Amino acid sequence: MTTPEARNQARELIVSSRSIAVLTGAGISAESGVPTFRGEGGLWRGRRAESLATPGAFARNPAEVWEFYQARVKSLHGITPNAGHRALAALESRCDQLWLMTQNVDGLHRDAGSTNPIELHGTIRIARCHSCRRECDIQGALSGWNPGEVPECNACGGSLRPAVVWFGEALPADALLAADRAIRSCDVMLVVGTSGVVQPAASFAYTASSRGAKVIEVNPEETPISGIADVVLRGTAAVELPLLMGPGDSEDLRIRRRVD
Ligand code: OAD
Repeated sequence: MTTPEARNQARELIVSSRSIAVLTGAGISAESGVPTFRGEGGLWRGRRAESLATPGAFARNPAEVWEFYQARVKSLHGITPNAGHRALAALESRCDQLWLMTQNVDGLHRDAGSTNPIELHGTIRIARCHSCRRECDIQGALSGWNPGEVPECNACGGSLRPAVVWFGEALPADALLAADRAIRSCDVMLVVGTSGVVQPAASFAYTASSRGAKVIEVNPEETPISGIADVVLRGTAAVELPLLMGPGDSEDLRIRRRVD
């Protein structure tokens, strides 16, 4: 459980910071109804899903990989951002500098109003041609899709794939570059809803901390990041993040910075 002291401490750190880096994981979308990967009922639990999210699986059996992703795209239909996503979008509008890095592919930070989220693992809203790399809307690519089929590129007829990062693939270069800048420039790093076990994102808080940035973790469970966090908020994102913003979503944070 989060103590009022921890909340105050986290709030003070945010108020006095000049630049904030935020790293989010599946936990921030949990209260929107999107399953996490490793928790109870998680996407990677008791299935072969993790072995499907690889380039090798796509080379061997692209139709099977598409069956998994078609189901994920369908399950995200109608899902909306929660109070945690919205609080981060509001925080961005009040900060001098905020970088939002997410491992999530669901696009909910954009829907909440975050302007330029760094999507470390790509996005499930887009499909990309395996041959010519042309991108298109994944909903359009899947319209009229039937099990056993692999959607094709309108331009060259090549096989489409979801524009997400699979295990064994490099992260998008522009996302990595932006993340590197964020980690090196921030004086506070807020880590929300990630188990902190998948690299390279898992190392971001360590790098920021070793450079002197303060680390705040929001997670109902202990993680490897808890050990280096300066403040731990042991609650869920949709509860803790709005509370961090201040009572009644006030303009408190901005006002206090001006006074500084
Ligand atoms: P995980 O499923 O590994 O971890 C989710 C974390 O969210 C756990 O630490 C939970 O305790 C926490 N959590 C659960 N509910 C929460 C809530 N309501 N509020 C805040 N935290 C909550 O997901 P990630 O760490 O995001 O990569 O996983 C990282 C990467 O591993 C994913 O991007 C994906 C996966 O394999 C790829 O697919 C490449």
